[in-house]
Parts: sequence; C-alpha cells; structure tokens
Amino acid sequence: MTEEATYSGPNRIFSGIQPTGNLHLGNYLGALKKFTDLQNEGWEGIYCVVDLHAITMPVEPAALQDQTRQIAAAMMAAGLDPDTSTIFVQSSVRAHTELTWIFNCVARMGWLEKMTQFKDKSGKDSERASVGLFDYPVLQAADILAYKATHVPVGEDQKQHLELSRNIAARFNQQFDAPGFFPLPEGLIEGPGARIMSLKDGTKKMSKSDPAENSRINLIDDADTIARKIKKSKTDTHGDMPETVEGLEGRPEVANLVGIYAALSGQSDEQVLAEFGGKGFGTFKPALADLAVDHLSPITQKMRELLDDPAEIDAALRKGAEKANAVAEPIIEEVRRVVGFWQA
Ligand code: TRP
Repeated sequence: MTEEATYSGPNRIFSGIQPTGNLHLGNYLGALKKFTDLQNEGWEGIYCVVDLHAITMPVEPAALQDQTRQIAAAMMAAGLDPDTSTIFVQSSVRAHTELTWIFNCVARMGWLEKMTQFKDKSGKDSERASVGLFDYPVLQAADILAYKATHVPVGEDQKQHLELSRNIAARFNQQFDAPGFFPLPEGLIEGPGARIMSLKDGTKKMSKSDPAENSRINLIDDADTIARKIKKSKTDTHGDMPETVEGLEGRPEVANLVGIYAALSGQSDEQVLAEFGGKGFGTFKPALADLAVDHLSPITQKMRELLDDPAEIDAALRKGAEKANAVAEPIIEEVRRVVGFWQA
C-alpha cells in the first residue's frame, strides 16, 4: 500500500446528537458545553440533530419531531450561535444518505460486526435488529465526511465509531486512488466532562435509560430538583474530601462530583481540591448544588422560551440546512466524479 497522502483542507468540526430521550448533565458537559467552548475558541463547527440515526430504533413520528426541536433548542440555549456555527437536522441534507450508500460499498461486513454498540443495542436477538441499526456507524462516517470534517468532539463511547470513520475514509481514498481526498477525522474526547457518571454509582455512566431518576440531572429539572439530587448523591465512607487528585483513586463517586464541579466551573480537579480538600461533603455538596443551579438555570430557562415559540428554532434549522448543504453539495459532486458516476 502506498503511503496515505495527507489531507490539506481546513480544520472543521462535526458532531451529532440523537433526538432520543431527555438530555442530562452528561450530555451537556460531554457535548453541548464542549461544542460551545470550541465555537468560542474560533473553530468552524457543524452540529447536527441526527434524526436518521434515531429511526434505527422504533420511535413515534410525533415524538421524533418534538425531540428534534428539543435538541436544537438545547444546542442554542447552551450557547451555539446559529450565525457562527451551523445547526441543522440530518434528514434535511440529502448528502448524508447518498454518501452512506457509497460508504456501504467501502466498509466491510467484518468491520461492522465488531461494533460493540450494535451488539449492545441489538441484544440477544440481533437477527431482529433493523439493517439500519447495523449500518448506524456507516451513516455516522458519512455525517462527518460529507463535510470533510477533521475533528469530532464526542464521548468515550464513540471511539470505536470514529475509528471506523477513519478506516472508511482511508479505504475510500485508496480504493478510488484519491490520496488525501477525505481527511482521517480525529476525536476531541478528553477534557473535563468527558465522562460524567451516575450520581448513585460512580462506576456507571450517567444515562437517560437508568430507571433511578436520582442517578441523573436532567437539563429540564428545576432548581430544587437539581439541588436535591446533588445533596442525595452517593459518596462513600472514606472520610472528607481528599486534598489531592491521587486521593480520588478508589473513590469513584467523589471523583465524579469533583469532575462535575471542575467541568461546570472551568477548573481542573486539582483546583477544585485545592479549595475543598479536607472539607466535608456537608460543605462541598451545597456548593456544587449552587454552582449547578447557577450554571444550568439560564440554559433551561432559554430552552423553555425557545420551545414555547418554536418559530425561532425552525428558522435557525432552515438556515442551518442551507449552510450545511452549501458545504456538503460540492463535496458530494466530487465524490460522484471520483466514484465514476455518470454526470450530465
Ligand atoms: N453516534 C453518536 C452518539 O450516539 C451521534 C452521532 C451521529 C455523531 N453522527 C455523528 C457524533 C457524527 C459525532 C459525529 O453520540
């Protein structure tokens, strides 16, 4: 194999959020806040509500519509500016489905059979899973590469899908003798908030499907609920807050609370422990509850306002679709030429 020529286009971020279920603190810190910070650092960013991905599992059409608007509202409320960044709905840009088909003919069955998310989601009876669920990561690769995005802010759980995107890009470039045509997109995974755990079990991810309501903070929770959930969160019996980061080892619940404080306040764990080390949870938890409420309530307030009158959301999404299309369309035209499709 000849050495891969490197991609020389501009840096560009793409990320997507599924319109399924309610957003929680983990989604906020792991995705929405990160997107906003990256935007404010000057990155070009394209942020997508991935409704095509959502239908890989059964979903009511009315619920899909509602949840699509909710994610868009959350993106805007968290600080993504539809004029600076691109915010749009996946199904409103045809490039995603067209490129998925082409990538279906590039990706290998064996690659997809290794995907742990498919194995988890399809459960014991994978024969009854939709073909779309199996193909989910190929659509994700198409999302990213339809814009030749170079960087993808996502959670830890998406590492494998991202690696698949790189494999598809590399194989496309090689198979069609187009060195450097697609970038090999990199994750932006680390950083505070990368892994927010359940408030009831510091070894489990905070999840919308956890039956224990107290295990997560939902973005739509009111101030009292947020404060109550933090005050009731699990800690341990190893004593007060540790003075150092090493002292967090073997204390997953405490490490998680410190991580949440750090992510919300834009500090490191060290800085948080410099302030709270040696103090009791009776001091730390109320401080964390106040911080969470102060940080989240303007966002939930804005989200409610947007959802009360969705005209602003819809206008932003229409404009976002136009902007996204303007980037993707010329790339798809090039892909068609590279693949050898007839062109009028
Ligand atoms: N699979 C991602 C998740 O569940 C969502 C997603 C779809 C995505 N397409 C994407 C993330 C493209 C990053 C880039 O979190």
